[in-house]
Amino acid sequence: VSPSPPSSARIYDYYLGGKDNSEADRQAAEQVLRQIPEARFAARANRRFLVRAVQALAGLGVDQFIDLGTGLPTSPNVHEVARETLPDSKVLYVDNDPVVSAHNRALRSTRDGILSLDMDIRNTDALPQDPDVRELLDFTRPVGVLMIAVVHLLSAGEARAALDSVLRWLPDGGYLVLSAATIDGMSDEQIHEIADAYENAELRTTGLTRSDFVHLFDGLDLLPPGITSLGKWRAKEPDPKSLACHCGVARFTR
Ligand SMILES: C[S@@+](CC[C@H](N)C(=O)[O-])C[C@H]1O[C@@H](n2cnc3c(N)ncnc32)[C@H](O)[C@@H]1O
Repeated sequence: VSPSPPSSARIYDYYLGGKDNSEADRQAAEQVLRQIPEARFAARANRRFLVRAVQALAGLGVDQFIDLGTGLPTSPNVHEVARETLPDSKVLYVDNDPVVSAHNRALRSTRDGILSLDMDIRNTDALPQDPDVRELLDFTRPVGVLMIAVVHLLSAGEARAALDSVLRWLPDGGYLVLSAATIDGMSDEQIHEIADAYENAELRTTGLTRSDFVHLFDGLDLLPPGITSLGKWRAKEPDPKSLACHCGVARFTR
């Protein structure tokens, strides 16, 4: 693990109780935890939402997934969840952190139908032209695109641009799975402290409001129950806490 600077993937790994993080990552994570003590709980709730959302899409017959801002491999990974329902599911993992890409490439060497791509998700226009991606995925059939716990690391404008880029190539009948932390109710000082921690990780985040997040679904058909707090989307036992994190799954019709 490279000692510095911190990275958002390794900060998140620390929230999840992982071992792939350095002292600099832990310091940045603790700076965020001082402002959002429930960040650890939220990270786990995010992973549980990922599992429920992928299960729901696999149940609808979706067997191709693109995980944008994938993070370090965390079990169960998207391919493991999808393949419980549809064993031939294909998964493209995308991230712009070289450490994350290296870990995900290692997964590829042991399993068919998995690919790791190093790309900035703020503009994925070139993604469907990549020869390896074309070999893996069939863009004439539905694809499920995940952006989990990542758009809040972008500005509201960048998040919108990232979505618009996906919608330029997402096949008709594809799905979008989104979750993000939101800043409503936080003081300017809290927002500044969080932004400062992530700035060390070379991310300039100003945070998203709930309204910014809701607007990302404009023009898409939300699946029931719509946009919810993270722990409540189709949860058998909904988390009693209402976290300042929201999620939703929507269908795209061209
Ligand atoms: C908080 S982690 C979320 C990981 C995973 N989606 C999950 O929910 O478990 C955010 C990930 O997004 C990646 N990321 C952040 N900004 C990105 C960008 N502009 N392009 C590609 N990946 C990005 C980071 O490297 C990190 O791995």
